[in-house]
Amino acid sequence: MKKGKGAAKAIEILEALGRIHGARDMVPVGSVQVSGVSYNNIGEHGLAFLEEWAAMGSKAVVPAAMNPGGSDRRIWKSLGFTAAFVRKQERVIKALEALGIRPSLTCTPYHVGVTPKLGEHVAWAESSAVCFANSVLGARTNREGGPSAIAAALTGVTPRHGLHTDEGRRPTRVVEVKCPVPAAADAGALGYLVGRLLASDKGGGIPYLTGVVPPPGSERLTWLKALGAGMAASGSVGLYHLACVTPEAAAQGSKLAKAAGQKSVIRSLDEGRAALNRGSGRLDLVAVGCPHASPEDLTRILRLLNWKKAKVPFWIFTAEEVRRHAEQTGVAASLGRCGATLVADTCMVVAPLKELGIHTLATDSAKAAFYLPSHHGAGVYFGSLEQNVAAALRGEWSAR
Ligand code: F3S
Repeated sequence: MKKGKGAAKAIEILEALGRIHGARDMVPVGSVQVSGVSYNNIGEHGLAFLEEWAAMGSKAVVPAAMNPGGSDRRIWKSLGFTAAFVRKQERVIKALEALGIRPSLTCTPYHVGVTPKLGEHVAWAESSAVCFANSVLGARTNREGGPSAIAAALTGVTPRHGLHTDEGRRPTRVVEVKCPVPAAADAGALGYLVGRLLASDKGGGIPYLTGVVPPPGSERLTWLKALGAGMAASGSVGLYHLACVTPEAAAQGSKLAKAAGQKSVIRSLDEGRAALNRGSGRLDLVAVGCPHASPEDLTRILRLLNWKKAKVPFWIFTAEEVRRHAEQTGVAASLGRCGATLVADTCMVVAPLKELGIHTLATDSAKAAFYLPSHHGAGVYFGSLEQNVAAALRGEWSAR
């Protein structure tokens, strides 16, 4: 372990957490993802805390990256962010960089080259990234808080408990899905319903889903990340098993399902869609890319726009590395000609929406639709990616 005052503080935090959770020991981690990066969320106290830690001089000893912050670092002015907010946001990023944490500013590290292997222990913090890493990649991480993720970065270890252990990864409930779940927004609505069901399961719920499979091809990963993001939002679910699909379910089959003590059936997504779709009145923005969009997602959106021009601002949130790639391939320019803007380093949930004059949004993300009303008092229309593109082109939301 690296020495220094910052690392000593990190060890204190990790040992305290280990005691609270009854951890056996510490486990080495291959990568860290740090949340609590948006100045809009952490405010002055959070900034002061990070700057104080950064001044202690310790650095990350394993690859560590940042979750989205509160503003786009490159095109903030044209999007309407104030210089005062951006200055504060840059101080947060600078403090984290001083701790050796890379400013990737994305919740999809797996789209920018950080893809933990099956069984690898990591310490990630953002809820959808945690759910994706555990479920789809078969890596092992608890949902870290901002300080505990930084502590893991500075020491290279995290307490071994919960989702780091075999026992902690057993399903608590079989959820039989008896309705079609064709697109990513549907997977988000399913995730939302599953999360609600599991929110009351003792010790945090882990579903074993049957009766549903993701679509083939490039939409597969988008569907899987939407499913996890939805249940992480409504039920703090950090891991799901999907029969025959996710690695642990595919390897262990029905043996794994037998560990679950409870069973539920979902026959329709209507209740989930209705709970998430609560917008009314004028549409200020269409916002997709929650979790951050992949290069394949951008191509799909471009195809749906079909060279027509959006009548309301249409923002697609993604990682800066994905945006740069889209600029090199011409996808960003083509999206721009259709009135769509690639926004990086931030997202609709952690940006200061009110300051930007945004009150009503449309989105295809169940996670965003879940948080936007409570975090920003925003009205939200929720529907498929096709509905969102159609709303951007029409300038208003339509239920069909
Ligand atoms: Fe990512 Fe922001 Fe959604 S951090 S998962 S785009 S709420």
